[in-house]
Amino acid sequence: MTARVTRLTESDWRLFAAVRLRALTDSLGADDPQYRQESTFTAAQWRRRLRDHAQFAAMLNERPVGLIGAQQENAETVYLYSLWLDPAARGYGLARPLVAAAVDWARDRQARLVTLRVAVDNTVARGVYESLGFAPVAGNGANARDEVPMSLSVR
Ligand SMILES: CC(C)(COP(=O)(O)OP(=O)(O)OC[C@H]1O[C@@H](n2cnc3c(N)ncnc32)[C@H](O)[C@@H]1OP(=O)(O)O)[C@@H](O)C(=O)NCCC(=O)NCCS
Repeated sequence: MTARVTRLTESDWRLFAAVRLRALTDSLGADDPQYRQESTFTAAQWRRRLRDHAQFAAMLNERPVGLIGAQQENAETVYLYSLWLDPAARGYGLARPLVAAAVDWARDRQARLVTLRVAVDNTVARGVYESLGFAPVAGNGANARDEVPMSLSVR
């Protein structure tokens, strides 16, 4: 089993589209508005997303099995979103290096803080984030009851 994490470039847009749509159907279902919207994306829209945000893929035996997105919110803060691993690729310890790659990217960009949100009952994801040093922060967002905002200082 060969595992690695790679940052996707614009020329990887087909791979990105395929794994992103798999993630959305697995997590939300094919009737979800988000899936329905993204399933109509053109090549230009996938490419734009790869330009606007950094997207990292977990590769298992050279097959993409996981994703995480990283968005530079401002000079100091990078927001991580949409961590997902194919159900068949879970439990092999791939999540931590995937998140770590996004954190390294944020650090390389001179960010000071990496933030994310996780569902209160998602103990596996929380465990992954906590193992990398993320800690809950007091949040006052609309979803604060269902989601825990977490952050990690990288400077
Ligand atoms: C969250 C997710 C990416 C984690 O991936 P994973 O492959 O299961 O994670 P790992 O194999 O690295 O396991 C992480 C830890 O959780 C533990 N774990 C995994 N599955 C578990 C389970 N069902 N119950 C309890 N612990 C579990 C592992 O033992 C490991 O702990 P360790 O580091 O002490 O050994 C994956 O479950 C997923 O894609 N879930 C659906 C999408 C999601 O919830 N994304 C997060 C949004 S914030």
